Amino acid sequence: MRVPLLAGNWKMHKTVAEARELARALRCELDGAAADIVLCPPFTALAAVGEELAGSTLSLGAQNVHWEPQGAFTGEIAPPMLLELGCRYVIVGHSERRQHFGETDAGVARRTAAALAAGLSPIVCVGERLEEREAGRTEEVVTRQVRQGLGGLDLPEPARLAVAYEPVWAIGTGRPATGRDAGEVARLIRGLLADLLGAKAAETVRILYGGSVSPANMAEFMEEPDVDGGLVGGASLKSDSFAGVVRAALAVRAARTA
Ligand code: PGA
Repeated sequence: MRVPLLAGNWKMHKTVAEARELARALRCELDGAAADIVLCPPFTALAAVGEELAGSTLSLGAQNVHWEPQGAFTGEIAPPMLLELGCRYVIVGHSERRQHFGETDAGVARRTAAALAAGLSPIVCVGERLEEREAGRTEEVVTRQVRQGLGGLDLPEPARLAVAYEPVWAIGTGRPATGRDAGEVARLIRGLLADLLGAKAAETVRILYGGSVSPANMAEFMEEPDVDGGLVGGASLKSDSFAGVVRAALAVRAARTA
């Protein structure tokens, strides 16, 4: 069975001092939990959060990564730089990167491949915008993003890949998808991964839901057989709410295996 994966995307929040405090509190709450728990602070706080998490079961993640190991790419961060700070995970292709910074499926593919080659575990984000959903184009958009972002990957360890389904209209709006809708798209994604990677490999990839996840709604998503966790924005910025999300996910998993 796939181990649940809960990642907190802190976005452009938290100074170094604030990040340390939150990481320390989360370590107290969640160290040893039966899930892969990942904190993704801004680049400036990676080193400090890495120090706070050292020796715990919580992992460090970044919010983006470039495809080259070094070079003239002002404002970008290379895979070896993240590894040096103890990062194990990295978010790739978040809709805010696509929307505000012009990231394309082709760029997502390059970043994902570089992350994997460097030994990082990418969490690749896909999801449709509101107008695409209203036009009935969800399947088409997600299919394109998965095929173009993940097609042709060299993937000896498919379990290192995670895909987050994040409908853009659900992010930061307090209007999450329903569990059923998220479950349907997660099933679609797993089917696409089976085409791209083979059925066996596809079964090991974690698929997350993201978009207004809270302690109150996480269980609904975890009930879906193809949803293995969450990518959490707003609710990851306070220790009690992120711990609540993790506990809700684990309660569902415990009930299923009992
Ligand atoms: P949200 O953000 O939980 O605040 O909706 C999720 C994300 O953008 O990853």
